[in-house]
Amino acid sequence: MRALIAGNWKMNGLAEDARALAEGLKTFGDAGQLSCDLLVCPPFPYLGLVAQTLAGSRVALGGQDCHSVPSGAHTGDIAATMLRDVGCTYVILGHSERRSDHGETDAQVRAKAEAALSAGLVPIVCVGETSKERNGDQTLAVISRQVKGSVPVGMEAGRLVVAYEPVWAIGTGRTATPADVAKVHGEIRRLLVGLVGEGAEKVRILYGGSVKPDNARELLTQANVDGALVGGASLDAEAFWAIAQSC
Ligand code: 13P
Repeated sequence: MRALIAGNWKMNGLAEDARALAEGLKTFGDAGQLSCDLLVCPPFPYLGLVAQTLAGSRVALGGQDCHSVPSGAHTGDIAATMLRDVGCTYVILGHSERRSDHGETDAQVRAKAEAALSAGLVPIVCVGETSKERNGDQTLAVISRQVKGSVPVGMEAGRLVVAYEPVWAIGTGRTATPADVAKVHGEIRRLLVGLVGEGAEKVRILYGGSVKPDNARELLTQANVDGALVGGASLDAEAFWAIAQSC
């Protein structure tokens, strides 16, 4: 399966930083020559700017969240149809920072993922255990609950991405061991077979949590790891490009 390397810029930078980062990605080479797909997810206000800057580059654009309904009285929210309208093809949903900052539940994440699919976007549904859950040997139970509760039912498998991001590995410089990553990704694949049947093989399962150029290759070569969701290192065009070249 062709890997996906996705950059989650989170709430970082101003317009000039977004423009420079997008320009930087273009100057490192032709994304069309990579053996993976590249995606960047800038903050909402800069989506249009980044779409313009990346035009013709084959780097895809994604949002970091969307609402579950197409329009209406939801102050401060963004509809999936709006993301599609400004050129997005993906949207990150249920990131652990949304789950903790905004109390998002599995049911809400699933509703958002269904809205994303209806709008023609590919949802990237995030799951991952906290350090407390990991220390309590709850990792697989948490992953199972989140996957079963957040993944939209009855969708085309080729239009779904799941990201495993252990919360304790995000922004900490700590990564799960390759063996742990392979174990959790194998479990996610098994759960997906139960949810989408044969098509589960087509769902890309990304690893996220302190992915850097020097650990990317080892993580990306584990069984059932079909790409990476990169935070901090995606804010540096050279580092992000180096990760993409590890595929
Ligand atoms: P870091 O790569 O900074 O650990 O962030 C991972 C992440 O949360 C991507 O969504």
